[in-house]
Amino acid sequence: MKALIIFYSRNGQTEKISSYIADIIRSNQPCDLINISDAINIDFDWKQYDCILIGASIHYGHFHPIVNEFIKRNVLTLKEIFSGFFSVNLVARKIEKSSPYTNAYTYKFLNSSPWKPNCCAVFGGALKYSRYNLFDKTIIRFIMFITGGETNINYDVEYTNWEQVKKFANHFKNLKLKKLIN
Ligand SMILES: Cc1cc2nc3c(=O)[nH]c(=O)nc-3n(C[C@H](O)[C@H](O)[C@H](O)COP(=O)(O)O)c2cc1C
Repeated sequence: MKALIIFYSRNGQTEKISSYIADIIRSNQPCDLINISDAINIDFDWKQYDCILIGASIHYGHFHPIVNEFIKRNVLTLKEIFSGFFSVNLVARKIEKSSPYTNAYTYKFLNSSPWKPNCCAVFGGALKYSRYNLFDKTIIRFIMFITGGETNINYDVEYTNWEQVKKFANHFKNLKLKKLIN
């Protein structure tokens, strides 16, 4: 059986995190890693998968609508299969806002979703001033200013805690194994 990771990523950080998790899972089983914009058009043969992980980043307070669309289309499978979810955002660079209960975007999303994943995590994202257009750069710099983050637009900063990502990937693997045994 294979694992499946589906990600939404606008500037590459969620893709990087997903790829890191996929490499950890691949020490036990094959793992497909698919961008959600491709996944939305795939008619999956779910029999080949024993687990699915969905990762998505936040922009201007929301996950991209394609995330909810994918969940809506596949909700029956998602309710059956072992599953996990992780979100990526800059608020989560602060430890007190990096759990599914304390990260408002993630809490709200999980509360309103018909899908209840078996495990969930929130990771700090990356601040990539060098990749933003003037509008985004100005707004995000202002948000960083009021929340005490990096305001020098000559620096890109990665706030992702890779130890936390590694722990979550192993937790996901182990919890799935436990569920399969029971
Ligand atoms: C246009 C834009 C809007 C963003 N809005 C938010 C936000 O509302 N809250 C937040 O915590 N992070 C916000 N972020 C930060 C992203 O969630 C963070 O950069 C993340 O790493 C993006 O992941 P991705 O590259 O996989 O899309 C924003 C980033 C951009 C570029």
